[in-house]
Formats: sequence, C-alpha cells, structure tokens
Amino acid sequence: MDIRFVQSLPEAISEAGVLGLAVGPGLSWYGDGGNHIASLTPGFEDAAARAGFDGKAGQSLTYPTGVSRPHTVVALGLGEDPGIETMRRAAGTLGRKVRKEVAVATTLTQAGPASPVVEGFLMSQYSYDRYLSEPDPARTASLLLLGDERAAERDAGAVVAEAVCLARDLVNTPAREKAPDAIRCQVEELAGDTGIRLVVHDEAALIEGGFGGVLGVAVGSDRPPCMLELWYEPEGATALIAFVGKGITFDSGGLSIKPAKAMETMKTDMSGAAAVIGAMQAIARLGIRVKVLGLTPLTDNMPGPMATKPGDVLTTRNGKTIEVLNTDAEGRLILADALALAAEYEPDLMVDLATLTGACKVALGDKIAGVMGNDDALVKRITTLGRDTGERMWHLPLPDDYRSQLKTPMADMRNIGGRWAGALTAALLLEEFVGDVPWAHLDIAGPARWVENENYQVKGGSGFGVRTLVALAADVAVNGV
Ligand code: BES
Ligand code: MN
Ligand code: ZN
Repeated sequence: MDIRFVQSLPEAISEAGVLGLAVGPGLSWYGDGGNHIASLTPGFEDAAARAGFDGKAGQSLTYPTGVSRPHTVVALGLGEDPGIETMRRAAGTLGRKVRKEVAVATTLTQAGPASPVVEGFLMSQYSYDRYLSEPDPARTASLLLLGDERAAERDAGAVVAEAVCLARDLVNTPAREKAPDAIRCQVEELAGDTGIRLVVHDEAALIEGGFGGVLGVAVGSDRPPCMLELWYEPEGATALIAFVGKGITFDSGGLSIKPAKAMETMKTDMSGAAAVIGAMQAIARLGIRVKVLGLTPLTDNMPGPMATKPGDVLTTRNGKTIEVLNTDAEGRLILADALALAAEYEPDLMVDLATLTGACKVALGDKIAGVMGNDDALVKRITTLGRDTGERMWHLPLPDDYRSQLKTPMADMRNIGGRWAGALTAALLLEEFVGDVPWAHLDIAGPARWVENENYQVKGGSGFGVRTLVALAADVAVNGV
C-alpha cells in the first residue's frame, strides 16, 4: 500500500473517494476536518444527531456526501485527548469500512501520532484467502494521511502491522502446511532478508542436547521437531533480552486426546512462536538497538505409536525430571527446555508467550492475556506497555504454596496440578526452568484467536503479542533493562 502525507484536505480529496474524519466530543473536529466539513457534508450534523453519533471514542458514522470526491465521509469518534489504542481502533474501523475503496484519505493523523493509524488501518484489511477459489481481498492501494510529514512514524506503523500479519498468516496456516521443518524454512528466508542469525537445533541436536521435554512431545508424530534460535545483534548494543514462544504445530492432546470440538482450533497452538517470529522481523527491520534472542521450540503433539504415555518421565534440558500424567499439558514440557536454554545465555530479562491453558481463558475470557512472572516490575512494565499496544493483559499471581500441587514421588515434578488454578500451576512449572533470570510469562490461550471482526482485529489468528514484544524491545533500547 502506498501511504503518504498530504498537506491539505482539497489535495487529499482530489484523489480519495472516502475521507475518514477525526471527530472529537460534541462533533468538534480534529485538524482540517472542521474547516471544510460544512461544504463537504451539508446535512451531516442532522444525520449524526439521528444516529446518536457525537464523537465519543469508538463511535463511527458512514455518511454518503452526494458528490463524487469524496463520495463518502466516515466520521470516527475519538473523544477527548485520544490514547494510542483509541487511534488504532478508529483507523481499524475506517480500514474495515473502506476495504473496496482504492484511495482513502484521513485526518486521524491530525489527532495523534501516525504509527497507530497506519497500524490499525493495515491490520484491519488483513485476510487469509490462500484457500479461497474466489478471494475477496481489500482493494485499498493508497492511504493519504493529512498533516505534517512524519515518515518515520508511518514506516514504524507499517513494519509492526506487517509483522502482526506475518504472525497471523503463520497461525492461520493449516497444520498440514506448517510442520516444524516448514516453519524452519520460512524463518530461514526471513533471517536472510533481515540479517538475523539463525541457529537450528534439529532432532539430532535436540537428542544430543538433552531436550527431553521437546522430544517427549515430538515422539507421537512422524514430523520431526526442531528448536529455532533467532539472534538479532545490532552493533553497539549491550543488553540482551530473550523471547520464547510455544510452537505446538498441532495439539491433538496426544494420548490424553482432546475431544473433536476442542481440537478444531488447535493449529493455533503455535501462536507464541508466531508472535516471537513476527516480533523478531519487526525489531530487525526497525533497527532497535538491543540484542534479542527469539527462541521457538516447534513440534506436533500427536498420539502416534511411539507417543509418550501417561506416567512416563522426561528429563529436561536443565536436568530436572517431569512425570507426564496428562500428555495434553504439553506446552509446559517444550517451554521447560526452551526456557532453560534461554537462561543459559544469561539474558537481562526474558518473556515467554504460550497458548498454555484453557484455564486462563476461563479466567480472563478471549480478549485478555494472563501475565505471571518472578519479577513484579517486569510484569508491570509489560502490562503497562500493553495499554498502548492495545494488547490487554492482567497480572495473575504465582502463589508459592500452590507449588505443592506439582509434587510426585516419581520425579522432580508432575506436569499437571489439581482441579483449580490451572493457569497458575502451569506457570509455576515454567518457573522451575528460568533460573534467576527476570522472567514474565504471557498465557495467550484466549486472545491468540479473535472470535469476530472488530475494529482492527480480524476473525482468526490475531498475532497477539507481536506489538508488546516490539514495544518492550524499544523500551529497553531507550531506558535500559
Ligand atoms: N493448547 C492447550 C491450551 C488451549 C486451550 C489453548 C484452549 C487455546 C484454547 C494446552 O496444551 C492444553 O491442552 N492445556 C490443557 C492443560 C490441562 C491438561 C492441564 C488445558 O488447558 O485443558
Ligand atoms: Mn495440550
Ligand atoms: Zn497446547
């Protein structure tokens, strides 16, 4: 998409068929909207009154002008002093409404920064239509942004949106098409394009390296597992941060097999890995000045003849043993190895993302992630960043006395807790593998998939986590660890 700044409304609407107008409280106008609105849209105020549109954040109103350019005005309510996420959502609402319009102009960029406008617009026009015989993609080819030239903000927004859409593509891809090896191939290409150094641990290396958690999950499938290390090491950067993403390329549950209904969406179970891959692409393209390690253990969870059986004991990368009592609690097994490996590099902080527990979805619903960790300041930092990135999360506790639920006479721990607090006992198991590295865990079982089209969100894989990881890297580059 060609995205550029234009200095005046007449210039914008000489080209654009639709104008997205930034509206404040009580139909006040942001930027150039007010100067021209009367001539562009006689009768608009009556229409707004009839529709109950008065410029509150989240409202929108589509108004046909009766002339040819623009033929439609989309009024976008921002309320007073709009935050970043309000801007992003308004741009998403616009992008969704104008999918079929070739050229679109907007004054949103006169109400706030350009990056969330570009982000929201691009994300809203995403579609995954690879398997449609009659695809219906968005047609917008030019987006004209009213206001002063701010190319860097625009480009940052585009880079982030493209990374989110890469993650969405990976998640939406059917499991058949995304064996661990296929994802490796795709990441090899990404690494070549971005200057990221890729280290691949193939199955032999995983055996050699003692990654019993990944291997214990992988043995039920004919498709071999792998673990990818993506290294982004800009010159002059000293701090190192690590991102770890759960990459279960299909979660059947293994021998503790899932019911058919619960399995329908389990190609989504590599959303953590997808978020890490997307974020690495964006961080490298933005040239953020911090070292970042992205780590993705990738494997199917299948009930093949060699599959791990309930009661089996696995020895993980850091030597701790886990009795597997439910093979459907597999995410923590592969993350145990990956977190232990990440900790070996002694990062200044690390964050993992995982579609880890249905319990987290029960607790917080499907739009909010749970965050847990061993460092309250890090958890606070991430949830605070989430407010501006629009990725909502909530701090859940890691109660020390719940750890006893993981006790077993057979091994150092068992892989499931008791009936309640499943999101917390899963995170407590992960904590056994992070050493003394400041660590936060995002359980994204809910928001990894969006259930409906909504402002910039598109039904299906959401790319949740990409924006917050990029924001965290940028924050560390500026403010240190
Ligand atoms: N991938 C699932 C969690 C999940 C459930 C993600 C629904 C998205 C939507 C995970 O591997 C799993 O199966 N967890 C079990 C754990 C249980 C066996 C302790 C769960 O949540 O039921
Ligand atoms: Mn599972
Ligand atoms: Zn899973």
